[in-house]
Amino acid sequence: MDRNRRAEKASSRPDEKTGTSAQLQKLDRATGRISLAVFFLLSASAPARADAPMAYTVGFGARNFPVVNLLWALLIVSLLVILIVTGLVIAGVLRPRDVPRSTDPRLVPLERPERGLAWIYIGTAISAAVLVGAAIWTFSTLAAVSGPPRDAKVKIHVIGHQWWWEVRYDSDDTSRIFTTANEIHIPAGEPVRVELSSVDVIHSFWVPQLSGKTDLIPGQRNDTWIEADRPGTYRGQCGEYCGLQHAHMALAVISEQPAQFQSWWTHQLEGPPASQTETVAAGETNFIAKCGICHAVRGTTAGGRLGPDLSHLMTRQTIAAGTLPNTPGYLSGWIADPQHIKPGNLMPLLDLSGAQLAAIRQFLENLK
Ligand code: CUA
Repeated sequence: MDRNRRAEKASSRPDEKTGTSAQLQKLDRATGRISLAVFFLLSASAPARADAPMAYTVGFGARNFPVVNLLWALLIVSLLVILIVTGLVIAGVLRPRDVPRSTDPRLVPLERPERGLAWIYIGTAISAAVLVGAAIWTFSTLAAVSGPPRDAKVKIHVIGHQWWWEVRYDSDDTSRIFTTANEIHIPAGEPVRVELSSVDVIHSFWVPQLSGKTDLIPGQRNDTWIEADRPGTYRGQCGEYCGLQHAHMALAVISEQPAQFQSWWTHQLEGPPASQTETVAAGETNFIAKCGICHAVRGTTAGGRLGPDLSHLMTRQTIAAGTLPNTPGYLSGWIADPQHIKPGNLMPLLDLSGAQLAAIRQFLENLK
């Protein structure tokens, strides 16, 4: 180090007192920046919900409103606790001492302030009050969302498979019972009962904007309910690791106006359109022969139950449980080589000629 720089450093070395205040100022600025960042992170979550379909900091419907309120309250209390405790620790460290510093660095200056114990009692009392308050709020929220506020008119049964969702719509009128897969339509503003079970391993039903997680357990029936207060699409995801393609086990809950929901239901009961081109007819024959053992299409002789029910496949937004968009290209790619796209799934590589593949795709595209 040259003499000039040494001199500069010596002259810029502050005395102890201004050094402390400069440190405090720096600290102040740092905490200011941190709280600003936290504020932006928190406030950004609300408008970003369209881009963040799995965000659980926003809720729609009676099931999730109380839970999201509780979440925000606990989050804010936790942040306040962190800020207060950090502030007190820093203030304690930087506070000027009445006891003179020893010249021996091994000796720690010791203070014995009078009535210091009172602060322990005050701190314990405040913490206990906050924790008891949080516990009471949590228990009352759990009780409030344990069942729907009124009788659910729509009841569905969701069955977990590696790695897709079977969805059965229940009805007192047996002619209105039907099965679909991976996309659940519900009427807006109405509670829907969801019965959960699994045919293989443990999965978990989770639609973050509508409800918390409930497990689907083989040999056991679990119950939950969902409600969306307004029309929209709410993404769900399997919330329990269930094997290789757990991440590709998504679902969508589509909430519609009740009248629209009823006409969707009625439409689902119908078979494929009667007017068929020659290719579509060939596609149906091939589909029944090659795919019909595992997949069902209402109104045809394909009645397999091992894979997703493909009736009205074209009304769904995605294929392979939210893995791919439902477009002709992806559909062809999926049928041609499902193991490449979703390794480990139960769909085998079929020995299809180009013409057969094209015909099957056209038949599926006809399932509107
Ligand atoms: Cu099913 Cu994870």
